[in-house]
Amino acid sequence: MDQPAQQDTSQLVRRPCGSSGPELSVLGLGCWQFGGGDYWGDSNQENVNVVVQTALDAGINYFDTAEMYNDGRSEVFLGKALKGADRDRVVVGTKVWPTHLHPQTLRTHCEASLQRLDMDTIDIYMIHWPCHARTYPLFVDSAVMGVTLASGTATTPALPEAVEMLLTLQAEGKIRHLGVSNHGVERFEEIRQLGGEYVVNQLGYNLASRGAEYEILPHCEKTGAGVIAYMVLLQGLLTDRYASLDEVPDWYTRTRHFRADRSPKTRHGEAGAEAQLLEALEGLRALAAECGSTLADLALQWAIAGMGITCALIGTQSSDRLQRAVQAAGHTLAPEVLRHLDTLTLPLKEHLGPSLDIFEGVANDRTR
Ligand SMILES: NC(=O)c1ccc[n+]([C@@H]2O[C@H](COP(=O)([O-])OP(=O)(O)OC[C@H]3O[C@@H](n4cnc5c(N)ncnc54)[C@H](OP(=O)(O)O)[C@@H]3O)[C@@H](O)[C@H]2O)c1
Repeated sequence: MDQPAQQDTSQLVRRPCGSSGPELSVLGLGCWQFGGGDYWGDSNQENVNVVVQTALDAGINYFDTAEMYNDGRSEVFLGKALKGADRDRVVVGTKVWPTHLHPQTLRTHCEASLQRLDMDTIDIYMIHWPCHARTYPLFVDSAVMGVTLASGTATTPALPEAVEMLLTLQAEGKIRHLGVSNHGVERFEEIRQLGGEYVVNQLGYNLASRGAEYEILPHCEKTGAGVIAYMVLLQGLLTDRYASLDEVPDWYTRTRHFRADRSPKTRHGEAGAEAQLLEALEGLRALAAECGSTLADLALQWAIAGMGITCALIGTQSSDRLQRAVQAAGHTLAPEVLRHLDTLTLPLKEHLGPSLDIFEGVANDRTR
């Protein structure tokens, strides 16, 4: 097969984030890794400064963080690394945890994010996961910031009041654009009906997790919302990092791709899809070799080419890997290679189905 890609431009292409959001570079920098913690290991500010500067130099303008990432340290590290940057040329997105949507708590948490980022305004403020009575207990269990049963904040926040506060914070200039993350069609429509304009829905989307294609990607396109794709490399699995599935650390085998007893950290309780995953990985690696490319490059390029995708995130603390990703993002895959990638991963897509939540079983899907 011919080379998979044709050179586009030396600059990263930008796309409008939905019908009213800011323009984002097709590759964005995921900052969950910044600040150090159990999940991603060590992190130091000097290195993060280099990675962020590499991103800026390469034309990346979108930086993605959340209050939950490493107990707020991701925001602190990102804020420091962006200190000298031209604020008008940078788009910073952060997210509020659903248990923090009681109006006064929401204000406190929004202002705390601003303080940690050391900024006057958040460019895109997203609700990290839908706030819904059915799934709320799942978040209370895993929430570590500011939720205490004794204080009474463990009652499910009322979404209309949360939206009212979001609009107040937006009117005060603390939030530039509103967004959501992990919202399936029903949850997204519910919040849209309450008012405000949501410029983006951030969704897990990669060659091995294509549930978004069934309903929510077409819905975002129809309603004029941008999409930021996360876990495009499936936490390093869609790279040449691991020679076998046995090498993948516990934290990264919690997804529905792996059988539930694979890791004590797993919550989904399902049989997994390891056979389909292995078969897909084998085919993807063979295609990458045939094309003179790498699995990571193909995975990134495929996501960037996805339906309605505005920006695909890469999470990395390596400026070398980031530079490589920038090069990959500057190339467009030929249609026949895209079709081949779709075909190779179709059995996995069909096995996992339309569920968007890759950490919980279908019955507990928090995006519905
Ligand atoms: N909204 C949500 O609920 C949600 C959920 C998850 C993530 N996110 C966002 O999406 C961002 C990206 O997702 P993610 O970080 O979970 O997953 P990811 O980008 O799919 O994978 C990140 C991992 O891949 C490794 N990696 C990157 N390039 C590589 C390469 N070429 N070869 C080998 N390993 C490579 C990185 O390690 P090194 O650091 O060593 O390069 C890191 O361990 C996050 O930072 C966060 O901002 C959002």
